[in-house]
Amino acid sequence: MKIAIDGPAGAGKSTIAKLLASELGFVYLDTGAMYRAVALKMLNEKIELADVASVEKTLEKTSVEIRYDNGTQKILLDGEDVSDIIREHAVSKAASDFSALPCVRLKMVELQRALAEKRDTILDGRDIGTFVLPNAEFKFFLTASVDERAKRRFTELKNKGAECVLEDIKRDIEQRDYNDSHREFAPLKKADDAITVDTTSMSIKEVAEHMLALVRKKEA
Ligand code: DC
Repeated sequence: MKIAIDGPAGAGKSTIAKLLASELGFVYLDTGAMYRAVALKMLNEKIELADVASVEKTLEKTSVEIRYDNGTQKILLDGEDVSDIIREHAVSKAASDFSALPCVRLKMVELQRALAEKRDTILDGRDIGTFVLPNAEFKFFLTASVDERAKRRFTELKNKGAECVLEDIKRDIEQRDYNDSHREFAPLKKADDAITVDTTSMSIKEVAEHMLALVRKKEA
C-alpha cells in the first residue's frame, strides 16, 4: 500500500507521516530531503539555477541514497550523510528553486518510485498524489494557514536555540509556497481525489488519529 501526503511547507507532513508510518508499520520516505540533497550539491559546486546544462552535468555525477538507521531516514549525498546540513535555511531556499527543474525532478521521481515499489510506504512531498504515485491507495493534502505554519516553524527553530524572526519566517514560507505551486512541471497541487486535512486548529495527535481512522476504515 502507498500513502501520499502532500502539502505546503510547515503543514506538519513529516511529523504526521512518521507517526502514521510507525503506527501502520510502513516505511516513511521524506522526498523533500532528496531535493534538499540535490540543492546542497548545486550550492557546493556553485552551480547557477539558470545554467541548466551545468545542473544536468552535475546531476550525472551525483548520487542520492536513502538509508534507514533504526527506522530513521538518513540521506546520503555522494556517500556522505547530509541529513542535518540539508535543514539549513540556504538549502531550503535552494531546494525550492532547483526542484522546479524537470531534470532534477525526473531523477528524484525515478528514485522515489523505485523505493516505494519495494514496501508499504508513506511518502510526503508536493507532487506525490498528482505525479509520483497517481495510483496511491490514499492521498492526503495537509494544509494550515500561513500564520500557523510560520508560528510552528518559529517555535521549532527557537527550541533548537536558533535566532529567528517570525515575520522573516512567514515571508520565506510564502515565497516557497509561491515557488512550489507556480512551477510548470509537477507543481504543488492537491490531487482531485486527495482528502484535505486543514491542521490549523488541530493538534498533531488529532491529525494523526483522524488520518489513521480513515486508513483503517478503508482497510477493514
Ligand atoms: O518538504 P521540504 O520542505 O523538505 O521540501 C523542500 C523543497 O523541495 C520544497 O520547497 C519543494 C521541494 N519538493 C518538491 O518539489 N517535491 C517534493 N515531492 C518534495 C519537495
